[in-house]
Amino acid sequence: MKSKILILGGGYIGSRLVQELGCPVSTKKILCYEDILAEVKRYQPRVLINCVGHVGRNNVDDCERDMNKSLLANTFLPIWLGEIAFRNVIKLVHISSGCIYHYNYKWQKPIAEEETPDYYTLFYSRTKIYADSVLNSLSQRCNILIVRIRVPLDIYPHPRNILTKLINYKRIIDVPNSITYIPHFLKALRYLIDRDARGTFNVVCKGGLRYPQLLDVYKKYSPGFEYEVIPLKDLKLNRTNLILSTKKLEKTGFEVSKITEVLEECVKKYIKF
Ligand SMILES: NC(=O)c1ccc[n+]([C@@H]2O[C@H](COP(=O)([O-])OP(=O)(O)OC[C@H]3O[C@@H](n4cnc5c(N)ncnc54)[C@H](OP(=O)(O)O)[C@@H]3O)[C@@H](O)[C@H]2O)c1
Repeated sequence: MKSKILILGGGYIGSRLVQELGCPVSTKKILCYEDILAEVKRYQPRVLINCVGHVGRNNVDDCERDMNKSLLANTFLPIWLGEIAFRNVIKLVHISSGCIYHYNYKWQKPIAEEETPDYYTLFYSRTKIYADSVLNSLSQRCNILIVRIRVPLDIYPHPRNILTKLINYKRIIDVPNSITYIPHFLKALRYLIDRDARGTFNVVCKGGLRYPQLLDVYKKYSPGFEYEVIPLKDLKLNRTNLILSTKKLEKTGFEVSKITEVLEECVKKYIKF
């Protein structure tokens, strides 16, 4: 079976990509290098998109409870994939995360791709940093594209969609954060693959979203919905809050939307489901 693109992992991001690209997906449990090789032999792809990962059952803190699964899915598997890409001259697209940096809102500019990740506070972030550093180094020698996404916002209700999460939390923080608008991410990924882009790209909207901005738009279409803003210190969870730079993606010619431009469209579609 020959196919240009093979997606690995049929979770949230993997399924959205299958919808968009209409290509095959492997949901086979991968426990070792040979398991991936068997899938590559079966599908003979020219491009492998890695959407496998472990983000925790409820949230990223759950990664601590299953360290082997987290390290296997987030670190070893991407490195095995890098080796497969290197040996078999296949393009590897690795879906990574922007939640790997500290950020100082007072003086820092949006974080560019080449800045060294420094968020070692969470085990989940560490597992992503380990894989990114190996793949980033390997990308000097073979065809690897690392796409960093952050806090998905989508038009469909889903437990991983920040809109669904905020509606359920009702108590939210008010700190600007980089957001990946999933319809925009799907277009950007197709664009980057078509241009055979290599290296690391942040794929987020321009600017930061303050969660009340999104919920105020939601409120407009769901009268009666109420929420409360709480101070960041009351969250009592280790989480990244940061702004990523979109300059590198913009330089490719891809039009990056401002986060405030997508909110109305997103909520209008979301409430229909
Ligand atoms: N969702 C987010 O908020 C977010 C934000 C930034 C970056 N990302 C990154 O995006 C990627 C995809 O995340 P997602 O939201 O789509 O997560 P997801 O819905 O949990 O999907 C991940 C998929 O990987 C599968 N998987 C885990 N270990 C595997 C293994 N050893 N072999 C084969 N499949 C395995 C999972 O299967 P099981 O369920 O059976 O384990 C699941 O289907 C991850 O790398 C994540 O770090 C996600």
